[in-house]
Amino acid sequence: MKTIKVKLGKRSYNILIGQGIINNTGKIISKLNIGKDAFIITNKQIKQLYGDSIAKSLKENGFNFRFELIADSEKSKSLENAHRLIKNLALFARKKKVFIIALGGGVVGDLSGFIAAIFKRGIPYIQIPTTLLAQVDSAIGGKTAVDLNEGKNLVGAFYQPKAVISDTKILNSLTMRQIRSGLAEVIKYAIIKDKKMFSYLEKNLTSLLNLKPSNIEHIVAVSSKIKAEIVEKDEKEESGLRAILNFGHTIGHAIETASNYNYYNHGEAVALGILAFQQKSSMPN
Ligand SMILES: NC(=O)c1ccc[n+]([C@@H]2O[C@H](COP(=O)([O-])OP(=O)(O)OC[C@H]3O[C@@H](n4cnc5c(N)ncnc54)[C@H](O)[C@@H]3O)[C@@H](O)[C@H]2O)c1
Ligand SMILES: [Zn+2]
Repeated sequence: MKTIKVKLGKRSYNILIGQGIINNTGKIISKLNIGKDAFIITNKQIKQLYGDSIAKSLKENGFNFRFELIADSEKSKSLENAHRLIKNLALFARKKKVFIIALGGGVVGDLSGFIAAIFKRGIPYIQIPTTLLAQVDSAIGGKTAVDLNEGKNLVGAFYQPKAVISDTKILNSLTMRQIRSGLAEVIKYAIIKDKKMFSYLEKNLTSLLNLKPSNIEHIVAVSSKIKAEIVEKDEKEESGLRAILNFGHTIGHAIETASNYNYYNHGEAVALGILAFQQKSSMPN
């Protein structure tokens, strides 16, 4: 298992990366001292695939928990949905010191983090990212949000998780489309920060698309480290440094909005955004 630390003083946390590590979820969380009652936000498909392993590990370590399901759609990142979950959380949280587990891709992660940030002015949460995109990007750095009809991620908070548990084995159930979508964010990191990783991606593309454990662990770790370092220097996007992570996103977000989040997924939209930038920069003045 690889460990990458996000160093943010009192808000520091570890990103744990490895094959099969969701089976240690209970043990990992026990060490954090954040209570014994977990409100697990996920969707039906992910619960079916990984709910039992997580439940088993939590039970073995003396946790009480409840699964809360959201619809499998970007549209779940809404204030209405947050409100519904918060009401259920309030019932679950009576006389308990609760924490949230975000078990899913970026949609689950962004929504769960937002709820954790505002419920009782902030309760602890753990990210268990299940897509490549979430492992390399959205689960790290504490950007939480929901969308409005007026725009994406318009309501949110910077709120860091207590740990990120990135089990690279659970990426095996992703579709090729989702893997490619996650790779778009990895390519983004390579372009903005790491020439060596760009060559690595070119050389190992086939193994990466086949999710060869050593290759996939490597790119999740390198990407996590790049994101951690940028977040450490500019946690709340104040100095302008963190904005580099939005490379390809201006056009990407416009594409997502214009297609009503239906046609292109986030990674594909970002890939198109990067492409548009590359074409623009190679055009003569
Ligand atoms: N907070 C941030 O810093 C940040 C960064 C990048 C993206 N985002 C947000 O992340 C979201 C996109 O995230 P995403 O690409 O992970 O999409 P997603 O959460 O919609 O997941 C994609 C699909 O994969 C399925 N899935 C998830 N894990 C699976 C698994 N292990 N096996 C099989 N299927 C699985 C989901 O059910 C869903 O259908 C967007 O809302 C975007 O705005 C946030
Ligand atoms: Zn992105």
